[in-house]
Parts: sequence; structure tokens; C-alpha cells
Amino acid sequence: MTTAGYRLQRRAPLRALNTFGIDATAPLLVEVDDAQALPALAGQGLLGDAASPALVLGGGSNLLFAGDPATPLLRLRGTRIAAVDEHDGQVRVRAEAGAGWHALVEWTLAHGLGGLENLALIPGTVGAAPIQNIGAYGVEIGERVVAVEAFDRLDARFVRLDREDCAFAYRDSRFKRTPDREIVVAVEFLLSRNAPPDIAYAGVADELSAMGVAAAMPADVAEAVCRLRRRKLPDPARIGNAGSFFKNPLVPAAQAEALAIAHPDLPVFPAADAGLRKLSAAWLIDACGWKGHRDGDAGVSAAHALVLVNHGAARGDELLGLARRIRDSVAARFGVALEPEPRIVGAAW
Ligand code: EPU
Repeated sequence: MTTAGYRLQRRAPLRALNTFGIDATAPLLVEVDDAQALPALAGQGLLGDAASPALVLGGGSNLLFAGDPATPLLRLRGTRIAAVDEHDGQVRVRAEAGAGWHALVEWTLAHGLGGLENLALIPGTVGAAPIQNIGAYGVEIGERVVAVEAFDRLDARFVRLDREDCAFAYRDSRFKRTPDREIVVAVEFLLSRNAPPDIAYAGVADELSAMGVAAAMPADVAEAVCRLRRRKLPDPARIGNAGSFFKNPLVPAAQAEALAIAHPDLPVFPAADAGLRKLSAAWLIDACGWKGHRDGDAGVSAAHALVLVNHGAARGDELLGLARRIRDSVAARFGVALEPEPRIVGAAW
């Protein structure tokens, strides 16, 4: 059915809409071309209700369908990107939720803007990016966001949330804590024509030297990041995955110190909270022998221990079972609790 600003599909197959390539079916898929249609959709009950709120699907690159979703699925398809204003080389850019994340990064580079280059090649959409505050190679998008425009389902109105209102933290935000409330419709970023790129993260400067680049421009950093990612992370177009399946755990400083004494090569990083340290989940999982492990078609990438992969026909509950066994073995050996990064649909962690 086609109606003004949106399309509806009942019993929608989801395999092509999640990067794990899991076969699942949604009772209803609502595809919205114009976000202005959201209040009307809510009024007609097509965004579900308080007991069964619609799940917002971005690029499907950060979720695991452990079973069929019981709620409607909503996709925002608006992809417009535009500069809003400019002062002293600082440019505000607004992108609609349905734009591809990497397409936005490329747009900014083509317009001579720096700020997002470290986040090149991350799968997913602009609308999904603030949910888990995507981050890579030393930059998190929360650092670049001016405001998030959203439809507030509780109050049935559009809101503009400033960066402070978004409560960004490591792989976390207000949107991740109350996922059934706001539907992100657009994000505004503050980018720069002249700020020097951040190349401090391990490996970035080496990659730039290998490329023969001396004074790196944002486009060079994006290229270095793309090369690093292609080498380290499996391509979801070739083998189903959702990037890092676990967050790097935050533990009390004293616990991190004790673990680092017992295991001198365990990578330990500072955290935003001075009393905590961030540990490398990949190292902990690797040390438990999981890298390259395979149970049927559910497996752990041989290239990166943090990435679960679907070798072909794995079911969501099989991947979830593997993730729980990894969690249990890391807890038993190191006393560290791993938390999943993707949203798990249809089962509890
Ligand atoms: N390591 C291992 N075994 C492995 C892989 C890595 O022991 O199989 C150790 C190495 O010592 C390495 C360290 O882990 O130096 C860190 O690895 P890496 O630089 O790949 O970073 P990460 O902490 O594993 C995080 C993000 C990635 C992001 C990279 C680069 C999380 C959960 N993951 O991974 O984000 O691309 O840093 O910034 O924070 C994602 O979120 O989906 C994602 C891919």
C-alpha cells in the first residue's frame, strides 16, 4: 500500500534488512519517506502502542534478531544532507536519519569539512549513529553533534535535543536507555574547514606513513581508517556480522590493575570516569580461545575476536547462545562481565 509519505508491508522478510543476515519476519514494516508523516502514523496506531512500540530500524547493522520481532518495524528513508550555516570555518551540517553514515562522511569530505573522518566506513544510518554514540579511532559522534531532532512518542511532538540532553557516553546515550521514546529524524553536526585531524589512535599515524602522507588532511585520515577497518573487520556484505558484538568493559581501576599485573599484555585504557578503566574485550575473548571458533554457521571472526559472524544460515538464537557462552567463559576466567553492543530483539540477554 502506498499512502502520502509512507509505505506499509505486512509479514515483511528481514534477512536483507540486518547485516547479520538473519532470517526473521516482522508483523508490519512501515517505511517513512517524509518524517512529517510520523504524528499521523502514531495517531493511526501504526507505530505500535506503549505495550508494543515500533522498533526503529536503521541500517540493521547493530541488532540481532534472536527471534521474530513482535512489534512493527519502522524505517525512516529521508536522506537529505545540507549545510545549515557557517561562521569562521565552523559549519553546521544537518543530515536526515535515513542517509547512510558513510555517505555522510563522504559528503563532508567532498565539501572540505573535517570532523567525521575517523568514523569512515562504519555501517548503518545517520539516525542510528547517536543511539549507541558510534565511535572509532579516537572519535565518538557525540563530540561532533550539535543537536538531534526527534519525534517524541510519549508527548506526540517533534523535539530538538541539544548535545547535553543526549547524555552521550561510551556506546551509550539517552536514546539507548529509553529506546521506545524518541524516533531520531535528523542529526546536526558541527564540522570544521581547518581543525587539524586527530591521528593519535594506535595505528592511524603508521597507516598514514605507509601511505606516504606527511601532513594529513581529513580525506587522508578517512582513507587510512578505511584501510585499517578493511584489514581488521569482516565486511558485512561478504559475511554476516554486526561489528563489535561486545562493548569494551568498564571496571574499577583496582580490578584493572590486578588484571594487568596477572596479564601484562592485556590492553587497559583510561575511561571518562577517573575511577574506572576500559579493558579490551577482544583480548579477553581471544585469551579464552574463541577467535575463529565455529558452531555450525554461528562463529567468531578469525580476524577479530570481538566480532560474531554468520557463516551462512545461522539462526539468531544460535548466535545469541554462542555470545552467552563467550560471556560465561570470560566471567569465569577473568571475573569481568561482558555486555553486548547490538540491540537484541526477541530475547533477553
Ligand atoms: N585484540 C586482540 N585480539 C583481537 C583483536 C584485538 O587481542 O582479535 C586486542 C589488541 O591488543 C588490540 C586491542 O585489542 O590492540 C584493541 O583492538 P582494536 O583497535 O581493534 O579496538 P577494539 O577495542 O577491539 C574498538 C571498537 C570498534 C572500533 C575500534 C577502533 C568497541 C566495542 N569497539 O574495538 O568499533 O572500530 O575500537 O577504534 O568499542 C564497533 O563498535 O562495532 C566497532 C567495530
